[in-house]
Amino acid sequence: MNYFSARRTSRLTMWLQKLTEDAYTEFNESPAIPLPSSANPCAAAMPRPSPLHDLLSKRKSSRAFSGDVAAISDCVEILRLAYGYTAGGRRSVPSAGGFYPLQLWLAELKRGSIERVGRFDPLTGEIDHFASLDAPVQDGFRVFHVDYTGAHWMILWTVRLLPIAERYGARGYRFAVMEVGMSVQCAILACCSLGLPHIVLGGLIEQHVRLNWLRTGRRYAPQCALLLR
Ligand SMILES: Cc1cc2nc3c(=O)[nH]c(=O)nc-3n(C[C@H](O)[C@H](O)[C@H](O)COP(=O)(O)O)c2cc1C
Repeated sequence: MNYFSARRTSRLTMWLQKLTEDAYTEFNESPAIPLPSSANPCAAAMPRPSPLHDLLSKRKSSRAFSGDVAAISDCVEILRLAYGYTAGGRRSVPSAGGFYPLQLWLAELKRGSIERVGRFDPLTGEIDHFASLDAPVQDGFRVFHVDYTGAHWMILWTVRLLPIAERYGARGYRFAVMEVGMSVQCAILACCSLGLPHIVLGGLIEQHVRLNWLRTGRRYAPQCALLLR
C-alpha cells in the first residue's frame, strides 16, 4: 500500500460514509445523566480553570500580522515542543508504532516570499540546513484572505508515508493525519504560551509546495502550515 492508494482508500471511505450516513445510532431515547457542571450552562461550556485552560483561552486564528517579529529562537522552541524530544527522552507527541513519520520545516518570509527554508532535526533540536529560496508564499495556498506579507515565519508539516503504509496499509494514512494534528496542537500551545499570533492553514497546493519549496519530489507529502509574525 503506497501513499496514493492509501489516499484513494480514504476517499472511498468518505464516499461510503456519505452513501450510508443515515445508518447511525442515536441515544436520544436514553435518559440524560446530569453532570455536576450542567446546572449552569456557562460553567458546562467551560473547563475548570487550570494553566492549560488559561493557555487555550488565548487561542484564536490571526489572519493579519503586525508588530514585533518572532525571534528564530521562538520558532525553534515551537518546533521542539511540536515534535522534539522531551526531558524524559520521549517525543512531545505519540506515534503509531514509533515510526514518527512527520517532518517539520521552518521557512523565513520577507514581504510575502520565502527567503530560506530548512528542516527541523528532532535529534539536535535545530534546523539542519537552510536553503535559499525566492518563492511567493501565496502561490502555495488556495487561501486568499490571509496577510502573507505581514507574516515572517511559516512552519510546514509534511509526512513520509511509505514506511507506515507498508506496516499499516491504508490505516497508516489515518495515523499520519492524526499525528500531524497532535503536533500542530502542540505548536499552537507553544505560540499561545509565547504570545505569538498565528494561523493554521490547510489549503496547501501540495504539488507546488513539494516541487517549488521543498524540492523533494514525492518523498514528503505536505499536510498543513502555521503562519506567524
Ligand atoms: C486543518 C485546518 C485548516 C485550516 N485552514 C484554514 C484556511 O485555509 N484558511 C483560513 O482562513 N483558516 C483556516 N483554518 C483556521 C480556521 O478557519 C479557524 O480555526 C476557525 O475558523 C475557528 O476560528 P479560531 O481558530 O479563531 O477559533 C484552518 C484550521 C485548521 C485546523
